[in-house]
Amino acid sequence: MPSTRSIEVLATAADLFHAAAEEFVRAARAAIGAQGRFAVALSGGSTPKALYSLLATNYASFVWNRVFLFFGDERHVPPTDPESNYRMVNESLLTKIAIPPENVFRVLTENPDAAAAASDYESRLRRFFEIRPETRPPEFPRFDLILLGMGPDGHTASLFPDSAALDEQSRLVVANWVAKFNTHRITFTFPVLNRAAEVMFLASGADKAEMLRQVLEGKNTPPLPSQRVQPSDGKLLWMLDEAAAAKLTR
Ligand code: 6PG
Repeated sequence: MPSTRSIEVLATAADLFHAAAEEFVRAARAAIGAQGRFAVALSGGSTPKALYSLLATNYASFVWNRVFLFFGDERHVPPTDPESNYRMVNESLLTKIAIPPENVFRVLTENPDAAAAASDYESRLRRFFEIRPETRPPEFPRFDLILLGMGPDGHTASLFPDSAALDEQSRLVVANWVAKFNTHRITFTFPVLNRAAEVMFLASGADKAEMLRQVLEGKNTPPLPSQRVQPSDGKLLWMLDEAAAAKLTR
């Protein structure tokens, strides 16, 4: 499947999250139909919360027992912390749907050693996708869908500009030191993001407009992290609301 990039602009934030929920379920049905399961990595931050709530209300009776949820990145805080992506997803989605707990793969961030938490998560990904570490050239898991957001500096997942994880080419998950937050973040690497069958970026609001113009239309050297998400054999879908898309050439 050649890689494609498409940009969908919805009139309002509410329209955006409805369309994103429909795309999530469309991708899930296709994967479950084709291989009996849907492996998806969720994004954190504030933007996707409304999508997760909508999935919980509008698709409560979905076949969640065929859905396997991972996290594309996580903050190095306990799962009960207000900063935790897992906590946000748990409150907005997991506690409201009948998904078997064994289908939810959270990063064990209670481990004070961020690198160890990242290695543990990597080995659980390898076990789920049956990928042996010694495989040469390195093999990467193929998620059916990876959800991503974009930060004000053009970061995505926890791949921040000028951070070490940008250059990782063999690990699946790393603990990335983020100087401006003075902490580690646990994040998927680009090879995992770019191996996905589909990547869906969600961006909403006027505060994202300038960076979106740079990411989608700009030529940056080095490229911004969000520009480096180019699935090699998959679909790249940017879902935006009008306010976020306001500075794009159309
Ligand atoms: C995180 C995210 C991160 C997020 C962007 C956008 O853990 O923070 O995974 O990559 O998607 O920072 O965040 P907002 O949606 O809050 O603008």
